[in-house]
Amino acid sequence: MLKQKLIDKYNRHLNYLRISITDRCNLQCMYCMPPGFIPRLHHNEILRYEEIIRIIKVGISLGISKVRITGGEPLVRKGVYDFLKRLADMDGLSDIALTTNGVSLKDNIEKIKAAGIKRINISLDTLSRNKYKEITGHDKFEQVWEGIELAHKKGFDPIKLNMVALSGVNDDELADFARLSFSYPFHIRFIEYMPIGKSRMKYGPLLLVPEIKRRISTIGKLIPVKNSINDGPAERYKFEGAKGEIGFIGALSHHFCNRCNRLRLTASGQLRPCLLSDHHEDLKSLLRKGCSDEELADIFLTAVRHKPSDHNLSISNPTEVLSQMSSIGG
Ligand code: 5AD
Ligand code: SF4
Repeated sequence: MLKQKLIDKYNRHLNYLRISITDRCNLQCMYCMPPGFIPRLHHNEILRYEEIIRIIKVGISLGISKVRITGGEPLVRKGVYDFLKRLADMDGLSDIALTTNGVSLKDNIEKIKAAGIKRINISLDTLSRNKYKEITGHDKFEQVWEGIELAHKKGFDPIKLNMVALSGVNDDELADFARLSFSYPFHIRFIEYMPIGKSRMKYGPLLLVPEIKRRISTIGKLIPVKNSINDGPAERYKFEGAKGEIGFIGALSHHFCNRCNRLRLTASGQLRPCLLSDHHEDLKSLLRKGCSDEELADIFLTAVRHKPSDHNLSISNPTEVLSQMSSIGG
């Protein structure tokens, strides 16, 4: 058994690496990108798949056992399905998951399945076609929904739907989303909006987990589901008789930093110990200077030393993180 070497000074065991493989996206969600923003790191600035694989191997030697592939939108990057397959064939990873906006699911579900991915999270903030267009800038609701249904038919499990709860935008749909857990075995996850980078969001009243819970408990009693070690920040519940689950991710209302087990690799090759802090360690420059695996491992250990105990976002003072979510990976 490998020894876990990525333990920070608060005794958190960091075994989970989230990897953004591109900052590009085929949507422009209102909370993720400012108007007219086109994320486009130059081809050379983005880590090559080879480089990502080398970094993951070093991570595995230090105790990383779980990875999630994110973006931007990961499925827009050329060669992604072969890359996923290579990950699935790697020794040392017990879990490989994918976060996608679902636009490309319908046409590529077989390739995702063939690559060995079982767990997918799909971002979906509304069940209305018009509102989808308003939130994402694109008329793709039906395509995404068909992709979700197809993923379900093809046996992906669990399928998690991520809904960022936005006051005045989709807060009239909280109960409708929660009800999906009766008709499908999906995990519906309500996520508090986090002020990260520039976006089209105007700061209105923040919609926080206690209020979301209050609104959806009108449809039934929420029964807590026991958290397992790999659950990360979601608080899990289930309605009696439901097939699926309900989860809450409240970065602002509920500090879950004490349970955080993550590191993040950005599309441009920076290792970030915390989503909500701009601190990062430059893996790419070192890698391209021809460094050894030991030197890469040292960067992991340095990042771990810089993992803050807690983020400093608060409800009263939601200070912005400067980097764009699309390049860090959600
Ligand atoms: N606040 C909260 N969630 C966000 N996401 C993207 N930007 C934000 C934000 N500012 C979510 C997306 C996606 C996940 C990766 O992160 O909806 O589901
Ligand atoms: Fe794309 Fe995800 Fe950002 Fe939406 S939240 S614009 S889907 S990267």
